[in-house]
Order: sequence, then C-alpha cells, then structure tokens
Amino acid sequence: MSLLDAATKVRENAYAPYSKFKVGAAIRGKSGAIYQGVNVENVAYPEGTCAEAGAIAAMCAAGETELVEVVVIADSPTPVPPCGGCRQKLAEFGKAEVPVTLATTSGARLETTIGDLLPGRFDMSHMDNV
Ligand code: THU
Repeated sequence: MSLLDAATKVRENAYAPYSKFKVGAAIRGKSGAIYQGVNVENVAYPEGTCAEAGAIAAMCAAGETELVEVVVIADSPTPVPPCGGCRQKLAEFGKAEVPVTLATTSGARLETTIGDLLPGRFDMSHMDNV
C-alpha cells in the first residue's frame, strides 16, 4: 500500500464530531513500516489531537523513532498545513530533508519537507553550552 493510500484509508476513522474535519496521516519509518494516525477530538478539548501526532505515537509504540516520509490528507480547499506543534513533533523524529506530502481528497498535492515546514527549528545543538 502506498503512503497516500494508507493516509486516505485511515482518514475514514478520524473521530472529529466537533470540527467535522477528518484528517488522515501516514508516516514511513526507517524500517519501511507504515504507521497511520487520525485526529481524535473530545468534548473538553474539541481541537483534540492531530492525525500527525497519532501516526507518530503509533511509530513510537512499535519501537521506531525515525521517520523518512510523511503524508497528510484532508477534505479541504487547499492542502492543510500541519499545526505548529505537529511541525515540531515531525522535526523530532525526521531529518530536515524528509519529504512531506500535503494532500486533499480532491487531488491537490503540496510537496514540502520537514525543514521547510519548520525553519530555524530548536534542536539539541542549542543546548550545547549546558
Ligand atoms: N488537524 C490535524 O489532525 N492535522 C493538521 O495538520 C491540522 C488540523 C485536526 C485537529 C482538529 O481535530 C481538526 O483538524 C481541526 O483543527
């Protein structure tokens, strides 16, 4: 299954009763395995957790900590940009050159990278004086 197919398929399982905005994410770990995630909302925090965070959690739960490719898909007029928190989460587990495809269910695609999504990212090197 392609990463886009995996993200498209898992999106159907998004739990988004408040926003009604279903998002699917699929990431490929360095091992080649695919991990999927959806957004999950709740009544106290209707923004919930993002699909990207869900896919990253699935990867960590499986014992992997490096991702090499990302796809995010939603039914929106233009490809949905990951939120700030998800950009930092992606940067935690993927190198700057890792490709990120932002897709819409109607076929639009935006190809970017983790580095382009989070320029000037905070990383371990900033703590070198500690
Ligand atoms: N959402 C994601 O899952 N990923 C994104 O990249 C943007 C936003 C979700 C969170 C919330 O459930 C809904 O979309 C509206 O913000």
